[in-house]
Amino acid sequence: MKEICFETISSTNIYLKENYANLDNFTIVSSKTQTKGRGRNDRTWYSNDNNLLFSLLIRDKNYLTKFKAISIVSAYSVLSVLKEYGIDNLSIKWPNDVYIDDKKVCGILLESVSKQELECLIVGIGINVNQTIFNEDYLVKPTSIKLATHKDIDLNEFKNKIYERLIDNIKLIDTKDFYEEICKYDFLKGKEVYACINNKKELVKVLGINNDYSLKVILNDEILNVETGEISFHI
Ligand code: BTN
Repeated sequence: MKEICFETISSTNIYLKENYANLDNFTIVSSKTQTKGRGRNDRTWYSNDNNLLFSLLIRDKNYLTKFKAISIVSAYSVLSVLKEYGIDNLSIKWPNDVYIDDKKVCGILLESVSKQELECLIVGIGINVNQTIFNEDYLVKPTSIKLATHKDIDLNEFKNKIYERLIDNIKLIDTKDFYEEICKYDFLKGKEVYACINNKKELVKVLGINNDYSLKVILNDEILNVETGEISFHI
């Protein structure tokens, strides 16, 4: 694993988008702060310098088509490390947020770069580690590991554990069945949520995550399997 560290950068995802061609598979780019931290659906990712902000580059062709699995297995990898810090009530909010109770502790922005063909995937991960005050305007209430454990977390040690777990699990993506384990932590299962489906806000009931990692919902008695990008939730 190769790591490139910045004190500050626009966004670790943007850095990899611009530089992936000169970098090895599984290179990690981290930064203490970002001036243009990006979230899903064009939102801003706010963070101070007490957190973990990084992106993992995937260039190995074997993985490039496994977008959905990499997305949710990345969230599961973060969750499994947080469990070792003694945190309870962890869940994955499909497609890839990690929650403690009903608050978000980790967000993941998975992007791909294509030219004639798919060139690389970029897994951008933001984890709230030691931040305790959140003043920005958040869609979902944020929390942090420190707020959950009441302990200061050694960022370097935490970072190494996350990197290791993430890369180990991604390497296992073809051979290990993560599905059952992931279903144990399905935050949305059984909930009624507003979903934006085909640009219309609809009240749907979530039945759970499918084994291809799409999401099964019921809308007006009709079962729909929705993919990331087709749906956004407002609880
Ligand atoms: C989300 O929940 O909306 C996804 C947030 C992803 C944030 C991380 S922080 C590191 C990487 N660089 C970015 O600009 N975004 C991701």
